[in-house]
Amino acid sequence: MDINTYSPDHPTFAVIGATGKTGCRVADLLEARGHAVRRLARGTSPRFDWEQPGGWAQALHGVDRLYVTYVPDLAAPGADLTITRLTEVAQAAGVQRIVLLSGRGELGARRCEDIVLASGIPSTIVSAAWFTQNFTEGALSGAVETGALALAAGTVREPFIDVDDIAAVVAEALTGDGHAGHRYEVTGPASLTLAEVAVLLTEISGHDVQYVPMAFDEFHAAVAAEAGAETATLLTELCREVFDGRNEQPTDGVRQVLGREPRDVRTVLTEALTAGQRA
Ligand SMILES: NC(=O)c1ccc[n+]([C@@H]2O[C@H](COP(=O)([O-])OP(=O)(O)OC[C@H]3O[C@@H](n4cnc5c(N)ncnc54)[C@H](OP(=O)(O)O)[C@@H]3O)[C@@H](O)[C@H]2O)c1
Repeated sequence: MDINTYSPDHPTFAVIGATGKTGCRVADLLEARGHAVRRLARGTSPRFDWEQPGGWAQALHGVDRLYVTYVPDLAAPGADLTITRLTEVAQAAGVQRIVLLSGRGELGARRCEDIVLASGIPSTIVSAAWFTQNFTEGALSGAVETGALALAAGTVREPFIDVDDIAAVVAEALTGDGHAGHRYEVTGPASLTLAEVAVLLTEISGHDVQYVPMAFDEFHAAVAAEAGAETATLLTELCREVFDGRNEQPTDGVRQVLGREPRDVRTVLTEALTAGQRA
């Protein structure tokens, strides 16, 4: 897309994190509806790198509506400063609408949400439960192959949400009216324990999958060996914070925005795990 073609009648959308789980789906949905979308990540042109703010103005030049996914996580140390800077660059670029993807209830994430809502740019927060696709495309996608679903989540229940439902909510918040200033808390229709997810993965894949509940220090050591101490500390603290029971209740965020129920975990996992077999 030519970054200099800008028309207020035909808003230009940009997606930060466009190669990620939600970003690629949001970009696909918008393009399918005929919108111009600038996909942004570290390998795109223009490039967007959270570590290199000097390039943000060029990446956002001519953008009207912006979807933001922040990595590593809005609850990570320093995220508030980075998000403040992003809103300043977006403001200067003339961005007129922001939708921010967030988690549910982490204090650090809440700080970032407040910064975006107070930025002066009409904004919407989409606070999502854990993604069902974490088990098929994300950090836990190896569980079917290894047979072990290892996480420091105890016996807490989580209303896992379909990433396609998140993308549909984001697309509506970016294109529809009346969403500015709202925080939509989006979850799946029912809460499951990780042990229940393991049973579903076993049933659907035909491979035995067991939930392995880990202690926090055990989890930290395992992640540190794979991804380094910083990531291990962030993920361990996230598990400690969000798996304390506060997020067990499903919400009606998807119905509020889309007027329909969210898809359940079994449907989403079945579709994902049998896709290869159908092809
Ligand atoms: N997973 C969950 O269950 C869950 C639940 C609620 C909220 N969230 C939030 O969702 C967000 C992640 O969104 P997602 O799952 O859609 O993405 P994702 O699948 O984790 O993908 C990450 C995206 O960020 C890009 N990226 C990575 N490092 C970058 C950098 N330094 N600068 C610019 N872009 C970078 C990646 O692109 P390249 O590698 O190509 O640059 C990719 O597009 C996080 O804020 C997380 O807290 C996740």
